[in-house]
Amino acid sequence: DKGGYRHFMAKEIAEQSSVLADAVEYYLSSAEGRAAIETGLDFSQVDRLVMVACGTASLACHTAKYWFEQIAGIPVEVDIASEFRYREPPISDRTIALFVSQSGETADTLAALRYCVGKAGRIVSIVNVAESSIARESDVALPILAGPEIGVASTKAFTCQLVVLAALALQATRQRGARDDAALATLEGQLRQMPGYVADAMTCEDQIRDISKELAQFEDAIFLGRGAMYPLALEGALKLKEISYIHAEGCASGELKHGPIALIDSDMPVITLAPRDNRFDKIVSNMQEVMARGGKIVMISDAQGIEEAGEGTWHRVALPRVDSPFAPIAYAVPIQLLAYHTAVAKGTDVDQPRNLAKSVTVE
Ligand code: F6R
Repeated sequence: DKGGYRHFMAKEIAEQSSVLADAVEYYLSSAEGRAAIETGLDFSQVDRLVMVACGTASLACHTAKYWFEQIAGIPVEVDIASEFRYREPPISDRTIALFVSQSGETADTLAALRYCVGKAGRIVSIVNVAESSIARESDVALPILAGPEIGVASTKAFTCQLVVLAALALQATRQRGARDDAALATLEGQLRQMPGYVADAMTCEDQIRDISKELAQFEDAIFLGRGAMYPLALEGALKLKEISYIHAEGCASGELKHGPIALIDSDMPVITLAPRDNRFDKIVSNMQEVMARGGKIVMISDAQGIEEAGEGTWHRVALPRVDSPFAPIAYAVPIQLLAYHTAVAKGTDVDQPRNLAKSVTVE
C-alpha cells in the first residue's frame, strides 16, 4: 500500500520522521540506553570495531565511523563485505564485528559475518528484518524498526541505521567514560531532536522538485562533502545513479583538487553538503573553486550558511540549522528527495530500477 503516494520510495522518505522517532524512543528510552541493557554489549574493553556491509548500508557504517572514533574514541574499520570476506583480515577477540543490512540476507554480508564467527569477541548485526539469516547468526541483533521497505533504493532503512549506530556510539562513549555526563546528555538531546529536523527538512521538497527538473537534463553530477558529510555525498551519488541513471560521483571535497576538479565545466552540477560546522570555510572555498570553473553548485546548508557563502551558486536549499555530529541524518532527506524527483522527472521506474534487486542473495 503506497498510502496515497505515487511511489513506495516517496512514502518511505516521508515516513522517516515517524519511524526515526520510534527508533530514538527504543534506543534512548533509558539513561543507560536500552539496547545495551538488553544485549549486554560492552564496549569498555574493546580495541576495535569492524563494520561490514554493502551499498547504502556500508555508507551508514562510514558515517558512524566518525561518531565511534571522534566521540567514543574507538578505532573503527569499515569495509564492504565483498572485499572484507576475501581479504582474510586478522580479527581478535577484542574486536566487535558489526554487520549492517536492511534485508539481513545479503550474501556477501552474511559470508563476512560467518568469517568473523569464532574470531571476533562479539558478532552484532543491525537489521530491519528480524527473522533474517544475518540476525539469526549474530550474537546480538539490533532492530532498526523502520517497518517494511519496498522501494529498491534504500531510504528510511538508511536513516534508521544511522540512528541505531548513533545510539550505540553514545552507549560506547558512556561505557568508556569518553565524555562527561553533561556532554553525553547534550549529544543524546541532539539525537532525540533528529526526527524533528527530518520533518523540517521535508519542507524543502517543493524547492527540490524544481531543482530536480533541471538536474534531470544533465548526464553527470558530483556530490561534495567533508567529515561525516563525505559518506553522505557518496550516498547522494549512489541514490541518484541507481534510480535516475545519471552518472554521479561522491567526492571528499578536500580531494577535489587531486583529480575530480578536472571534470568541472558548465555541464557539471555539483551538489554540496555544507552544514555550518567547523569545516564550513573549507567547503565554501571548495565551492568557489568549482564556480570559478563554471561548475553549477547546488548548495545544501542552512539559511545563514547560504547567506555567508554569498553569490554565484546555481541553487540553494536551506535546511534548519543542525548543530550536531548527527546532522547527516537530517541532510539525508534532501539528497533522497533530489534523487527521487530527478528520477520522476526523467520518467524512470523509481521503485524497480533496471538491473537491481531489493535483496542481493547471490555474490
Ligand atoms: C541502495 C541499496 C543497496 C543496499 C545494499 C545492501 O539504495 O538499497 O545499496 O543498501 O544492496 O542491502 P542490505 O542492506 O539489504 O544488506
